[in-house]
Parts: sequence; C-alpha cells; structure tokens
Amino acid sequence: MDKLRITGGRPLEGTVRISGAKNAALPVMAATLLASGVHRLRNVPKLRDTQTFIRVLETLGAQVSREGDALTIDTRGVNTFEAPYELVKTMRASIYVLAPLLARLGAARVSLPGGCAWGPRPVNLHLAGLQAMGAKLEIEHGYIVGRDIRLRGATFGFDVVSVGATVQLMMAAVLAEGATVLENVALEPDVTALGDVLIACGARIEGLGTRRLVIQGVNALRPVDAAIIPDRIEAATFAAATAMTAGKVRLEGVTADHFEAPLRKLEEAGCTILRESDAVSVSAPRRPKAVDVVTQPFPGVPTDMQAQMIAVSAVAAGTSVIEDTIYVDRFTHVPELARLGADIELKGNVAVVKGVERLSGAPVMATDLRASASLVMAALAAEGETVIDRIYHLDRGYEALEVKLAGLGARVERLA
Ligand code: EPZ
Repeated sequence: MDKLRITGGRPLEGTVRISGAKNAALPVMAATLLASGVHRLRNVPKLRDTQTFIRVLETLGAQVSREGDALTIDTRGVNTFEAPYELVKTMRASIYVLAPLLARLGAARVSLPGGCAWGPRPVNLHLAGLQAMGAKLEIEHGYIVGRDIRLRGATFGFDVVSVGATVQLMMAAVLAEGATVLENVALEPDVTALGDVLIACGARIEGLGTRRLVIQGVNALRPVDAAIIPDRIEAATFAAATAMTAGKVRLEGVTADHFEAPLRKLEEAGCTILRESDAVSVSAPRRPKAVDVVTQPFPGVPTDMQAQMIAVSAVAAGTSVIEDTIYVDRFTHVPELARLGADIELKGNVAVVKGVERLSGAPVMATDLRASASLVMAALAAEGETVIDRIYHLDRGYEALEVKLAGLGARVERLA
C-alpha cells in the first residue's frame, strides 16, 4: 500500500494549477446516461473516484475512453440497469446512476451504499424524493430496486440541505412527465454546474443558484460537450497548506467565488489573498492567527475543509473552536494529528484546538479523503519526517498531489 514520506519545515512557494472538481465530475458523468449518444467531458480529474465511476458506466453498457483530461462517453449501448455492490461499496456517489436509470430505462437495481469512515450517511431523502415522483422502490438483498417506473413531476422539499439528493432529483425530474418543484435544494457549485450541463442537454430548469428549482420534464435530451468546473476543495486545501507553512502560492484555473468562505477564514488568520478572474494568490504570515469555524452548506465553510482548518489551527497563535454541523463525527484525523504534536480536545462535534509553536514528524495513518489532506498539511509544517500510510484515500480526490506539492518546493515522495 502506497505511503507518502514528507520532510517538513519549508514554505510552499510558486504556482499550481488546480484540477477539475471530483464532486462536479461524478454527477455530470451520471447525467450522460440520461441522453443516448456520444458525450465529451473536459477537465475531468484523474482520480480513483472518477475511475470507479467509469467502471460503473461501463458495467451499464456505456463505452468510455480518455484522452488527457477529456472523457468520451458513448451511452448508446446502455442496456442494463444494475450497479453492483462491489463498485458502490467503494464509492457512495455511484448511487447517482439511480435516477438516470429510472428515467431512461424505467428500471434500476442499485446497491445501497454501505457505511463510511465516519458515521451514518443515509440516502432516505434520495428515496423519498424519487417515491414522491411515483417511483415504487423496494430494498431487496441490499439493493434499491425499481421496475416499470414512469417518473412524473411532483413538489418535494428537503428537510436537510443535501448535495446528493438534490443532484438525484434534478436528474429524475428532467425527463419526468410534467413539472417538478424542488425546495430547500443545495447551492454547492457542483449542483449549479450539473444544472448548466443538463440545460445544455436540452433540459428546462428554472431557479438555478436559488433554493427553489422548477423543472419542466422533456421527452428527450441530447448529448453534451462540457467542461468540469475547477475543484474548490482542492484549491482551498492548497490555500490552507500555504497558510500552515508561511508560504506564497498562486492557484491557477480557479473560481474564487466557489471557495470564498474558506478564503475569508484564511484572511482572518492573517493571510493576504488576491482574487483574480481565474486565479487566487495567497501570501501567509510567519504564523497564522487562531480562527473559529462552523461548517455549513454552501456558501458557508464546507465540511470538506473542516479537517484542513483544524490542521491550520494546530499551529496557529491562540485557541480555535471548529464545529462540524454537517457530519458530527467526522473527526478521525484528530488522533493522528495528535501524533504530530497537535493539542486538540474533542467535545461531540466541536474541536477545541490550542495552537502549538511546532509540530514534529511521525508515522501516521490516513482514514478518509479530507482527513488525509490534513495530515499532509501538518506534515509539511512539522519538523522532521512524517510517513503517511494508506494514501489510497488521498488518491480518491487529489490529482497528482505529491507532484503538485513538489512543484511548490515541498520535500515529498510516494513510497510503494
Ligand atoms: C457530498 O456528499 C460530497 N460528496 C461530500 O464530499 C460532502 O462532504 C457533502 O456533499 C457535504 O457537502 C460528493 O459530492 C460526491 P449530503 P453527500 O447529501 O451528497 C444528510 C468529499 O470529501 N442526508 O449533502 O453524500 C447527511 O447525513 C465528500 O469529497 C440525509 O440525512 O452529502 C448529511 O448530514 C465527502 N439524508 C447532510 O444531509 C439523505 O438522504 C449533507 O449530506 C442525504 C443526506
């Protein structure tokens, strides 16, 4: 199992190009099932998760080829509606094929996603929304099963703001009979980007960017040629790593609005941030100041930056209080950061972080995608050598991370 060896103590300096967004690419790849034909998606990051989604599409009968960061997805041959447990268990987002299969083929057999590194991640809103649209769904042998389904428009309000359930119901509604009204939808840029792609395929969606969507079903959609938006979480991770190492970094190929909340927190911590049309420059002080963070759905600070903000706080001057309101038990990185010398007290879904002058390198274990990013950041700031085990978690969501970090002067290498 691959590991990363990092020798810390150097500021990150230079320019880095940010990849396409994992969390925008996955729903758009699922949406290609809605329109029979040849689709072209550009700026698709090379990640374990996009590779897994390619396998899900191929399992359903699609043909997928890659040229650099572009995918060609031919969905004319889609002829089966089963997404197997073997694939879904490795990546929850595989559930995104459920609505497109029901909409296109009138049937689906999709494995229920299993557990996750941290706490329960139910899909009850996905199922309740589809049932409100007339889908009779059964749970059989761990699979969500629907047969002879004709989706029809409905009004559905989300009790909780959910990215995944919003995406699912948008894809169900675009080919449904009649109009669908979705209330209290997620506003994440990934959701709006999916809406833009669906409209480019011929869908009729009003209210994108607001909490209320009105979707008029159409008879058919056409294939699309689209570019995936930049990865705001990758960009915010690099910005936070710069803050932790007293660095000076320019992030290229980004949209500042997509990660404005974390940028504001880093400014509060003492960073100077220059926002340009497609770039952001971060210049950090010798030591960041402590800042408090409460994670929220977009446009708030995303839960996917909670671990990274805890890492910044671990070396900050003062005490920070970091609360995760989205995933109350997403703290598997805390004991590992403590191994590097961080002083963190956990009280339920709140971490109280007393900043220390210096962290020291040690062997640590990655537990999930963003937790592993926080360990990489802490290792970059720590004195001496850190070896991070199980970095397959990182490969799920960060493209060529060690290459990009080395390009910014970091001493980092992958150990097979
Ligand atoms: C998406 O997950 C992201 N994944 C996650 O990023 C991210 O942490 C999360 O949104 C929140 O921003 C992808 O985009 C592939 P949700 P998702 O449905 O869609 C509750 C990463 O690191 N909920 O918005 O699964 C749920 O328990 C990953 O890249 C229900 O109760 O998250 C949570 O508390 C990790 N019932 C809240 O809603 C449901 O049916 C938000 O979850 C669905 C969700």
